[in-house]
Amino acid sequence: MKQDLLTFADWTPEAMEQLLTLAQTIKQSPARYANVLKGKSVVALFEKPSLRTRVSFDIGINKLGGHMVYLDSQAGKLAGREDAIDVAANLSCWADAIVARVFSHRTLEQFAQAARVPVINALCDVYHPCQALADYLTIYETFGQVKGMTLAYIGDGNNVTHSLLIAGALLGCHQVVITPADHNVDQAVIKKAQSIAQSTGARITQSDNLSAAKGADILYTDTWLSMGDDTPLATIKEKFMPYQVNEALMQQSGARFVMHCQPAHRDLEITGSLIDSDSALLMTQAENRMHGQNAILTQLLGA
Ligand code: CP
Ligand code: NVA
Repeated sequence: MKQDLLTFADWTPEAMEQLLTLAQTIKQSPARYANVLKGKSVVALFEKPSLRTRVSFDIGINKLGGHMVYLDSQAGKLAGREDAIDVAANLSCWADAIVARVFSHRTLEQFAQAARVPVINALCDVYHPCQALADYLTIYETFGQVKGMTLAYIGDGNNVTHSLLIAGALLGCHQVVITPADHNVDQAVIKKAQSIAQSTGARITQSDNLSAAKGADILYTDTWLSMGDDTPLATIKEKFMPYQVNEALMQQSGARFVMHCQPAHRDLEITGSLIDSDSALLMTQAENRMHGQNAILTQLLGA
């Protein structure tokens, strides 16, 4: 039966560990995986803009011996010209997998149901699993372990936060999520992460107070305005500026490293000087997007 990747929420800790190991192996020995997608084509469909996801899938698929067809949003959302289920059914006539960045998680569920081939979530409103895999690969390479490390996420509770929570819980990473009170993560997602964490020993907490970041190994942040959010910048700045990830917060928390999924907004959610500092893991995260995704493609499509 075909397997999709819409979220890691239904994965076991063992499967998550194995995927992380596969990503490391592919990064270290790419030649061994050069024909995994030989003769295969992947459609990558984007309802929203992308730099990292689009390019890392395209180049990554090429490195696995496959071919990627890019479809942009053309006239906005997919829905309208034809139904999502019909788009997915048609794409399965030619493609061996569908990578999709969509506004609504529901669209991905419809795709997964209608497509005869694997569907991979390249970001939706609720999750960004490909990002989380790359991020934990980065943490593994930096510290030699993920289990027992502590990541403090600071900023808007969003799709990236949700996937970090789920994948981190599966890998045994302690996490504290610090958001302004009315920008919490989805409470169903945090409950799911906490329930996974019971079997992996991870501690998952949330707060609106920056002092909760004390003792973290890594501070992580993301944009205060996700794609499609048209809240005026002035409104958002007023609420989020106290949550800026900057040198003072690094010092107060004692964290050695800082992470951001990007696109980053210098001197808003993170200072430009911190992005440019030796503490920043941003470019390793970006590089690891490709290795993580190649592990996902190998797992879902490899012989
Ligand atoms: N982090 C990430 O998904 O970047 P893009 O939006 O550029 O793909
Ligand atoms: N939370 C951001 C992530 C971008 C990669 C967004 O959804 O726009």
